[in-house]
Amino acid sequence: MCGIVGYIGQIDSKEILLKGLEKLEYRGYDSAGIALSGAEGVTVFKEKGRIADLRSIVDSSVTAPVGIGHTRWATHGEPSRVNAHPHQSASSRLTLVHNGVIENYVQLKKEFLADVELQSETDTEVVVQVIEKMMDQGSTVEEAFRQTLSILKGSYAIGLLDNQDPDTIYVAKNKSPLLVGLGEGFNVIASDAMAMLQVTNQYVELMDKEMVIVTREQAVIKTLTGEVVERAPYTAEIDASDIEKGTYPHYMLKETDEQPLVLRKIIQKYQNEDGKLVIDQDITDAIDQSDRIYIVACGTSYHAGLVGKQFIEQWAKTPVEVHVASEFSYNMPLLSEKPLFIFISQSGETADSRAVLVQIKELGHKALTITNVPGSTLSREADYTLLLHAGPEIAVASTKAYTAQLAVLAITAAVTAEVKGHELDLDLVKELGIAANAMEALCDQKEEMEYIAREYLSTTRNAFFIGRAVDYYVGLEGALKLKEISYIQAEGFAGGELKHGTIALIEQGTPVIALATQEHVNLSIRGNVKEVAARGANPCIISAKGLDQEDDRFVLPEVHEALSPLASVIPLQLIAYYAALHRGCDVDKPRNLAKSVTVE
Ligand code: F6R
Repeated sequence: MCGIVGYIGQIDSKEILLKGLEKLEYRGYDSAGIALSGAEGVTVFKEKGRIADLRSIVDSSVTAPVGIGHTRWATHGEPSRVNAHPHQSASSRLTLVHNGVIENYVQLKKEFLADVELQSETDTEVVVQVIEKMMDQGSTVEEAFRQTLSILKGSYAIGLLDNQDPDTIYVAKNKSPLLVGLGEGFNVIASDAMAMLQVTNQYVELMDKEMVIVTREQAVIKTLTGEVVERAPYTAEIDASDIEKGTYPHYMLKETDEQPLVLRKIIQKYQNEDGKLVIDQDITDAIDQSDRIYIVACGTSYHAGLVGKQFIEQWAKTPVEVHVASEFSYNMPLLSEKPLFIFISQSGETADSRAVLVQIKELGHKALTITNVPGSTLSREADYTLLLHAGPEIAVASTKAYTAQLAVLAITAAVTAEVKGHELDLDLVKELGIAANAMEALCDQKEEMEYIAREYLSTTRNAFFIGRAVDYYVGLEGALKLKEISYIQAEGFAGGELKHGTIALIEQGTPVIALATQEHVNLSIRGNVKEVAARGANPCIISAKGLDQEDDRFVLPEVHEALSPLASVIPLQLIAYYAALHRGCDVDKPRNLAKSVTVE
């Protein structure tokens, strides 16, 4: 989390940095700051709160052709002005922004900074102070930076200014994302190309443990031992309009509405000229040759993995385990003889997932990453990648990435089934097309969803989502959506499990949203609804056409039963959206969260 930007060129950097930070706000939004380096030296502005709060305190009369900026998601030290970046060294000569976590900062503090009075509670300030200490012993800025980087443990993307050299930004990267953007007479740095698309679409990737000396004319990449590395730039293929809200009040609503379009794009991207679904043969071979698949992911992507397990087991007949990434490292299951790992990650940067990827690569296992971001860390470091083609997802609450993940997992399972000689009882291209139409119809029923949100969720303290089989997994996602943006305590439960304890929480009027899209469990989930209703709950049944009953609150358009999550999640996303709106919450930037979780 946290986002960093930097600019070195001919014109005033202030607006470029602020606009860049606005684009990176999804990475953290509890405080922000910029440092401007010009003829008068370095001037720092920082503030608790959003980029808008920072903007309001930046002195418009200060202009500088060089600058760095930061938007923060607090790890060490509460969100405050003092803990906001940039941080400066004791003499104020050095100014630094950082994304990541320095694991050995306490030890570094003891070893190097016993006589320095630190201003903040952050691990970042330790880094800038240690660099200055190295300089006190006679090193140049570059040498001191390199010496410091070589003793840091943890993750970092760093931008560093020296107020005695207004012609250079020093940059380094390890585990946290960072790109250098190239222009005519200027260069930039950014955690994500999106931030600097306003000035360039030419980017150079950085690898872990590399540093870069960025001037107006060039960006020289070096290893920590000082060898120069040559790397060609690539063109960032992001359409600037993809990252604008357009006429929508929130990114979440725009991205929810984009889902049918994304699904159609995925069908097209994974079809060959004959209209047949295809994925790389290396990937189907890897699945074919494995005796068990381990899906590893977090949050919404984990929920997609649970549904994906059904596709792979039922169609490709390969056993699948689904694991939460943050637990996996120290709670590793006994692995099968020929495991294949699938990492599902919208951002491709999630640190918890990456930690598992590093661990299983060390054990010599193969990995496939399913991600929305080409060139992301998880994509680069896995053996194979499948892309979601969902376009940038900016709202913190994931919507279109989830349904894209389901679609790509379904396609992977179906293609592998064919390779393995298992016959499928559905025409997936046709059924995905039907699902896209159903999604469109659902997105057109916003008024109904708004009404449901008002009726069931406008004042409640808590809510439950129940379902059986795959509906249970969609319920988990519905509960996550609701809690993260509306702050209603919401939990998803397997319909049959509620009576083993949680039913004690049901009170008069407690909303229970039940999904009934699976014929083989339709009667049992309805039995569970009766149990909670008998105890005073206010049930809201969302059912599949054909399985619906008289009191159902909402009936979904027809979709193949196996693909029902593609449709049933949409009302849940929209209900969460409207519940958050009714309660006056900041839908796109819920409290305490960040979009890309790059700390473990
Ligand atoms: C919830 C949400 C998160 C992410 C999770 C993993 O709406 O977006 O739960 O799904 O942080 O992120 P990725 O998929 O980028 O690895």
